[in-house]
Amino acid sequence: MIAHLGPVELLTPKPEASLAFFHDVLGMEIESQAGQSAFLRGWGDYQRYSLILTEAPAPGLAWMGLRAWDQESLERHALAIPGGRWEDGMYRFADPDGHEFRLYHETERYVAPEHLKPSWRNQPQRYTGRGACVKRLDHVNLLACDVRACREFACDVLGYRHYEGIVLDDGRETGAWLSLTTAAHELIYVHDAREAGGRLHHLAFWVDTREECLRAADLFVDAGVPIEAAPSKHGVAQGFFLYGFEPGGNRIEVTTGGYMVYDPEQQPVIWSEAERARGQFWGVRTVPSFHYYGTPPTPEDAELAP
Ligand SMILES: [Fe+2]
Repeated sequence: MIAHLGPVELLTPKPEASLAFFHDVLGMEIESQAGQSAFLRGWGDYQRYSLILTEAPAPGLAWMGLRAWDQESLERHALAIPGGRWEDGMYRFADPDGHEFRLYHETERYVAPEHLKPSWRNQPQRYTGRGACVKRLDHVNLLACDVRACREFACDVLGYRHYEGIVLDDGRETGAWLSLTTAAHELIYVHDAREAGGRLHHLAFWVDTREECLRAADLFVDAGVPIEAAPSKHGVAQGFFLYGFEPGGNRIEVTTGGYMVYDPEQQPVIWSEAERARGQFWGVRTVPSFHYYGTPPTPEDAELAP
């Protein structure tokens, strides 16, 4: 069994500006830095870091971590996943769209330095209140040429539960909302309109309240962070969202809301083409970039780039 997602490694061609965004605007802690990478965390992350930010020629997601419940689960999954390889205790493999995953069990728990020691014994780090002060990495949304193949791989091989999906009238599956936990989504696949392969749609970071999402939008404006979608609520999975672009070009979401799934026999909620045509349930229209742009961007994405 696999417990949860994270950490993830995000690539940026503008490392200094991106680091300033995650530290000053999202309010994450820089836990350490090594080589071309910075290791960042939200105040609620139990592991030492949830985001590795690494300098690279183009933006995108280098890999997504998955933590197995125990060593035995890790080894059993590795046997069931063809084409991967072991490195530093992690099993590296790719999904059908070419996104890299790294499955591991052993991890480093966060030990807060004196100035970040929490008062609560059940909280890994003090709440700092800097910037949007995101709590933790929440979910990853990947673009995929073949959503069905990726969804089947995630469910059949990795043990994800399929909570929601989109199937068009012609039978094409264009979205799948998946989870290893009761949270309504941890991993999402949506169709890559560019059919590029291996791209990222967005990383999402959690805040506890809608008010913090609204405040994050104010902070984005003051910091010159381009807002792609102002705070509103998705129909699918009911996530409350704010979408913007970090300086490296990756789409970042500040999120809250959603719901929990407790029913062990829960069947996937499949949305039809007609239902999707309604758009966002509060009537807010998503802009074209939301349906096309991903990282790394394609040449066609240039005109949509933030
Ligand atoms: Fe999201």
